[in-house]
Amino acid sequence: MGYYLIEGGKPIGGEFAVRGSKNAALPILAATLLAEDEVVLENCPLIRDFYLTLDILRTLGCKAELTGRTAVIDTRQIKDVKIQEETVQKMRSSILFLGALLGREKRAILGHPGGCAIGKRPIDIHLSSFEKMGVEINEEDGLFYCSAPHILGYHIYLKYPSVGATENLLLLAAKAEGVTVIHNAAREPEIVALVHFLRACGAEIYGEGTPSIMIEGVKKLHGAYFSIPFDRIEAGTFLCASAMTGGELSLLGVEKNDIETTLDVLQKTGCRFTFETERLRMMPPKQLKAELSLVTGPYPGFPTDMQPLIMSLLTLAKGTCMISETVFEARFRHAEELCRMGADIVIADRVAKIKGSPGLHGAEVFGRDLRGGAALLIAALAAEGKSTVYGSEYVERGYEKIEDAFSLLGGNVRLME
Ligand code: EPZ
Repeated sequence: MGYYLIEGGKPIGGEFAVRGSKNAALPILAATLLAEDEVVLENCPLIRDFYLTLDILRTLGCKAELTGRTAVIDTRQIKDVKIQEETVQKMRSSILFLGALLGREKRAILGHPGGCAIGKRPIDIHLSSFEKMGVEINEEDGLFYCSAPHILGYHIYLKYPSVGATENLLLLAAKAEGVTVIHNAAREPEIVALVHFLRACGAEIYGEGTPSIMIEGVKKLHGAYFSIPFDRIEAGTFLCASAMTGGELSLLGVEKNDIETTLDVLQKTGCRFTFETERLRMMPPKQLKAELSLVTGPYPGFPTDMQPLIMSLLTLAKGTCMISETVFEARFRHAEELCRMGADIVIADRVAKIKGSPGLHGAEVFGRDLRGGAALLIAALAAEGKSTVYGSEYVERGYEKIEDAFSLLGGNVRLME
């Protein structure tokens, strides 16, 4: 169990080029299984979950080489259709291989994902949608045995705009017989990126980013050359770190539209922004102020992945704020750790009440999931004195050498393995 040693109180500021999006890259890697020749991916995020997903492709018999930030993937050879239970439990996003393997091989075996620190995270929406498209699913000893001699296009109504279920359906439908329409589809930028990748491979898909996506199945998908878009949650994380420590930050490579809600919230705390081509500049106020009531929800609502980071920031904003977490049932575990740093947060069910404190002090705190760990890290950067943040193994899943990135921006952060 690794940890970060932080000496807080220094402004985090300067220029930072945001890296490729974890949550766009992972489904795109699964989608390469549908391409019948080589795929080249640029701007890949050099993070643990990306490496793990490349390993899944190799375990299936595919070629997957990473040089710098460029991945060259060739999935023409495949020797297996099984995703082991421990793989799925280690990284939940590997359930996206279900749609891709079925779309390619018409059969797949998937371990049961189980829950994680932020919630039970069932996959009922994925499975029920697949069955409507002709997939036969049998569960035995914690494995899902799936087969579909014919995958038939269908009108699928999602009971919740699940990101993963929308992605899995896109992968299953891309080469299905006939037309599939996903109603109440997720609208996240990562869905749009996946559709752009599939379209670059020759898929016929329309309506990405809206609640209805139509997919006209095609016989064959060819290879593509594709650049992974920026990570909007990493961008939001660094903006919060700078706003909390009083640093001026320029982010490079960001699309303003994709981080609109986060910018709105930061503006309400007193941050000011200027935007030139792909360069977003933030000037924080002397004192953060906020009287906000935030509700997390599916895009274009306030992103649940930004909730821990914004909570961290609001602990320093003069005023009282409320955050309601509607997406995951256990995503407030970072709150008690922030209180150990002097934050004033009261949790009642799925609502957090945050009263801004004059300052945070260093402490020994425990991160228990990716964004919760990152929230503690940025709080430690703003706190007076030394902090130890345990759980670096979670943070490394979604942020590339975050200790180096913050150090280059003026922070004093060391990773101790
Ligand atoms: C994706 O998870 C992201 N992960 C999550 O980011 C993100 O928090 C989430 O979308 C919401 O935006 C990746 O893209 C790899 P969902 P996913 O299916 O697809 C319930 C991070 O920190 N649900 O939209 O699993 C589910 O329990 C991670 O980068 C069902 O009930 O999210 C949850 O309450 C964390 N049945 C809600 O929907 C299902 O079949 C949202 O889940 C599927 C989901």
